[in-house]
Amino acid sequence: MEEKMRLQKAMAQKGICSRRKAEELISQGKVKVNGVLIKEQGVQVSLLDNIEVVGIEVSPQESNEFVTFLLNKPNGVISSAKDDRGRTTVCDLLKKENKRLYPVGRLDYNTSGALLMTNDGELSNLVTHPSSHLDKTYIATFPFKIDESLLELFTKGILLEDGMTEPAEYKVILNTNIKSIVKVTIHEGRNRQVRRMFLALGYKVKALHRESIGFLDVKNIERGTYIKLSDEEVERIKNICKANKAKNVIPSYKKNK
Ligand code: URA
Repeated sequence: MEEKMRLQKAMAQKGICSRRKAEELISQGKVKVNGVLIKEQGVQVSLLDNIEVVGIEVSPQESNEFVTFLLNKPNGVISSAKDDRGRTTVCDLLKKENKRLYPVGRLDYNTSGALLMTNDGELSNLVTHPSSHLDKTYIATFPFKIDESLLELFTKGILLEDGMTEPAEYKVILNTNIKSIVKVTIHEGRNRQVRRMFLALGYKVKALHRESIGFLDVKNIERGTYIKLSDEEVERIKNICKANKAKNVIPSYKKNK
């Protein structure tokens, strides 16, 4: 379970503003958590929640100290700040940076690959916001042959318990009787989305690796290690999210409703 804390503390930890300023903003009804406007102080949230300040500019605290890393997460590491069961967390992997970094979104315990780690609240909010439509590319491996024609359903959208998925792209890399590999690009970030999309077709993913987030890929980053992103790269990612948000990209499956 994610560590819970008061909303004002989480805002300060994410570098959005000071605790005092956060309390002010909450009283003014200007703070949303996961899209819901918060009206009282002390609401418990985790650093993985999407916290947004609506309608006003907040000057970020320690803005010149914002740092973002691209981690190639190994399997068997949990995407949270702490783990009750003592398992290694992604934050443990960046301990030597001595910063209060947290993961932007999450990868499953047994998914490897690209994960942004930051203390930049704006970046985190932008990347995890559903309207950012940032491409995320995954490599899924199976110990059997798959029926390629079924994968066409990905391009139209698949019905999952939490609704239709947005159209996704795919490419079959290998398809033999004992092993198949499929590359899939999705534009949302729902919980266990890729595994659930394949399960909806009747296929259980054996191994899952996130190769890239937007233009950032981990091909040259060893598993368990990371690189620091330049300010330009961070700005570029933010600008892609902002541009998609501004375009208000409507997934094609919603257009005809
Ligand atoms: N989809 C999944 O199924 N798992 C992940 O970790 C990320 C995307």
